Amino acid sequence: MGPTNSTDSTFSRRGFMKGALIGSVGALTADPSSIAYAMLAGTTPADIQGIGIRKGLVNLSSNENPLGPSAKAVEAVAQNMFHVNRYGWSMTPVPEDLLRNAIEKHHNLPETTVTMENWQEAWKERRVMISAGSGPILEFAAITAIKDGAELVQARPAYSDIAEVWMKFKRRQNANVKLHLVPLDDAYLHDLNAMYKRINQNTTMVVITNPNNPSGTLLGHDELADFVQSVPKHVTVFIDEAYIHFVREPGYRDAVHLATEHDNVIVARTFSKIHGLAGMRVGYSVAHPDTHRRMDLYPVPEPSVLGCFAAAAALEDHDHIARCRQVAKAGKDYLGKSFDRLGIEYVPSDGSFMLFNMKREVATTFAALAEKNVEIADANWWGVKEHLRVTVGTPAENEAFIGALEQVLQESRPVAQ
Ligand SMILES: Cc1ncc(COP(=O)(O)O)c(C=O)c1O
Repeated sequence: MGPTNSTDSTFSRRGFMKGALIGSVGALTADPSSIAYAMLAGTTPADIQGIGIRKGLVNLSSNENPLGPSAKAVEAVAQNMFHVNRYGWSMTPVPEDLLRNAIEKHHNLPETTVTMENWQEAWKERRVMISAGSGPILEFAAITAIKDGAELVQARPAYSDIAEVWMKFKRRQNANVKLHLVPLDDAYLHDLNAMYKRINQNTTMVVITNPNNPSGTLLGHDELADFVQSVPKHVTVFIDEAYIHFVREPGYRDAVHLATEHDNVIVARTFSKIHGLAGMRVGYSVAHPDTHRRMDLYPVPEPSVLGCFAAAAALEDHDHIARCRQVAKAGKDYLGKSFDRLGIEYVPSDGSFMLFNMKREVATTFAALAEKNVEIADANWWGVKEHLRVTVGTPAENEAFIGALEQVLQESRPVAQ
């Protein structure tokens, strides 16, 4: 007979978990001698089994977590998967409330309680809004800032979901809106002075991605806080912290406190990166309750029941977070040294990826790498020419990428006559 209640079922949950975990942990704990052996043997894409992708593919294009999901999240999914015949609101506790409360606790925010009696009013208190990935938070925040004559200030290159919503409105609705895309400075940092100068009485939103994607650069906390302080209160400052866990500086202070101290600040977070739950689609924002109420006028998609359970478990899986951070840091060190050896300029990164400068058109390199089963990102997508962006993978994936890049460089060298 099949299990009816997963929580105390003896269905070989333990066996299932064991299988699931061996897969990911096996990849995590590759001991130094096997890594050294793989290096000596010359790792090729065909040797690599990335988690969740077909054997042989080295997919370093989308900043996914190469180590897989938090094991605690996998366990939470396994425990709850037999309950998915129910809507979230039929469950006790309601998974959305469970996750929202977990996030509130995580950030030391007042916990909100939603009951049958107060659910219409509960919005008045709520500083946390959850959604199906942070993408919808970006998009719906963008929509609330668009009105006739409105202006947006954002860096370029930067993650462009918000700017794309504005551009879509401009094109399709013939909307009278203006976008100021301010170039990063020479160190690939947000040029906050130049951005500040573009703010006027029509500006409704300023976007800061910190660390920035695709450059991986990080603003100093105090510099960002001073900027927020100086921005007029009629402007919403949207701070996207998708990669905040990968910051190298120990003790770096994130921006969540700015969202509680300033009514015009929204901070967005995702479970897709450090927590390894991109396919689960879970993200959230911290902002003033009125901001969330405005966003909630639109149908912001909520995460699924399993997404809520997985994210709530992943949030406090500090071992997994530390391991992912460590692997990303070691990977960035390795990639940096390899770029130095190959004479390629790169941007030191506080994200889970690295931007590097080929100083020539990159379409050929991009295609030649793809032919060798190594997929990375062409930074032209964010409007920066002659650059490529690579996600930091497992040691084996990083080595395969560097090996393939080296080959591509050799193959493209003019043959001496
Ligand atoms: C800077 C940044 N923000 C937001 C997102 C959206 O992530 P998700 O919708 O998976 O939460 C991404 C995805 O790559 C990103 O790089």
